Amino acid sequence: MKRENENVESEETLDPDDWESMRKLGHKMLDDMLDYMQTVRERPVWQPVPNQIKAHFSRPAPQQPQPPEEIYEEFVEKVLPYPMGNIHPRFWGWILGTGTVMGAFAELLAASMNTNTGGGDNHIANHVEKQVIDWIKEILRYPQSASGVLTSGCSAANIIGLTVARNAKAGFDLRRKGLQSAPRKMVLYASQEVHSSIQKAVELLGLGSEALRRLPVNDYFQIDLEALKATITKDREDGYQPFCVVGAAGTTNTGGIDDLGALADLCQQENLWLHVDGAFGAWAALAPRARNKVAGMERADSLALDLHKWMYMPYEIGCILVRHEEQHRKAFAVMPEYLVHGEGGRGLSGGDLPWFSDYGFQLSRGFRALKAWMSLKEHGSCKYARIIQQNIDQAFYLGELVNASPELELSAPVTLNVVCFRYVAPDMDGDALDEVNKRIVIELQEQGVAVLSGTIIKGKYVLRAANSNHRSRRGDFDVLVREVIRMGKELTADN
Ligand SMILES: Cc1ncc(COP(=O)(O)O)c(C=O)c1O
Repeated sequence: MKRENENVESEETLDPDDWESMRKLGHKMLDDMLDYMQTVRERPVWQPVPNQIKAHFSRPAPQQPQPPEEIYEEFVEKVLPYPMGNIHPRFWGWILGTGTVMGAFAELLAASMNTNTGGGDNHIANHVEKQVIDWIKEILRYPQSASGVLTSGCSAANIIGLTVARNAKAGFDLRRKGLQSAPRKMVLYASQEVHSSIQKAVELLGLGSEALRRLPVNDYFQIDLEALKATITKDREDGYQPFCVVGAAGTTNTGGIDDLGALADLCQQENLWLHVDGAFGAWAALAPRARNKVAGMERADSLALDLHKWMYMPYEIGCILVRHEEQHRKAFAVMPEYLVHGEGGRGLSGGDLPWFSDYGFQLSRGFRALKAWMSLKEHGSCKYARIIQQNIDQAFYLGELVNASPELELSAPVTLNVVCFRYVAPDMDGDALDEVNKRIVIELQEQGVAVLSGTIIKGKYVLRAANSNHRSRRGDFDVLVREVIRMGKELTADN
């Protein structure tokens, strides 16, 4: 008979055969990655992936083991040189985060512990997550009594927030009966600038995208309050059931911020749920000279936000906060016999800490709280406040550079950290000028100078720089403007 722990030849594990060489490889990876992050400014922002590299990733699934050193070499050759580029100081496309060194370390630590944070009072990761959520509430001045859960990002946070809103305002047991039993069609409101994740959430919730009433905006890209009131009244007259207004704390296109205080008043009067999508803009609450712009956000019934954008943490991490804990739990909690918990007591399922899986749609969840916990401790909220304000000041600086250049025009007022502008040429407009600006976006990317994205503002194609980059310096915006003008001139030279 074999004794306990004695090797049985046919038994295997995925642990290294040779811990020493694995340790050496791990140290090398760490050194390489520190070099990689430290020298990011010296590389082009982005470069296209050659076809032969893409083709490399269509090989069949490996059946036999490969040495870890070889796999790492393959990563260094075929993966590492072709990133999206968002850790570079001149990446301002879409609205992406830059990550931090400590955030990357935290990912290693969390993956090593490989904790499942679905629930449990008697393992520590859930207490770390609870503390992170408490800190977020404190920093954003959201009520401490609110519930919250960390999510993969703001899309997931929006789905959770709107689920709670729908169920809380339905007026019947929606979880059991389903939307089919709704006596009236439930509808909700947002500006036409609302992010696409809200539409996706509305579709996933079975409401249908027509239920999302998209209201016009004013010159500052804020929802038109009079149009909103009139639409709510008309919907009620027509037999619909208005249940929610989605306010924007920072729209993706322009960084516009709805008048959240006015929306909170309106929702109170109309007995509607106020959900705020604050994916990145919620963090303006930290910036000394911008926080007044998001005043009223703390009155939202639910607040969705990201930490992987304007809090610079590595992907993925977002958060949903819900003012009414009970409604939040009622929308998601379910306890089959194999998951019984919450009755005090001992053991891994014992204790009273609420299970995070009762506040969202995921059961198994990673330990994403660790990177937030370590990052917030490393820098402190005061430093985050300074850097967020720095990003806003840089955006205004870029706006000034644009205004001072006859070849450029601002396409929307700068209100936060997003700048929309375009190259203009005498005797050129319409589609031709749109084409030039599209080409500038591509040239900037392909020449490795900077990454901007494009969008349409008032029917015109414009360049869009969204600054949630803690590595950017003012000089980077000088380079951007200089290069946009150079490229614009080259592209219109024959005109
Ligand atoms: C305003 C807004 N809301 C929601 C989202 C979706 O967030 P995520 O990409 O983290 O899912 C974004 C993403 O850019 C956004 O800008």
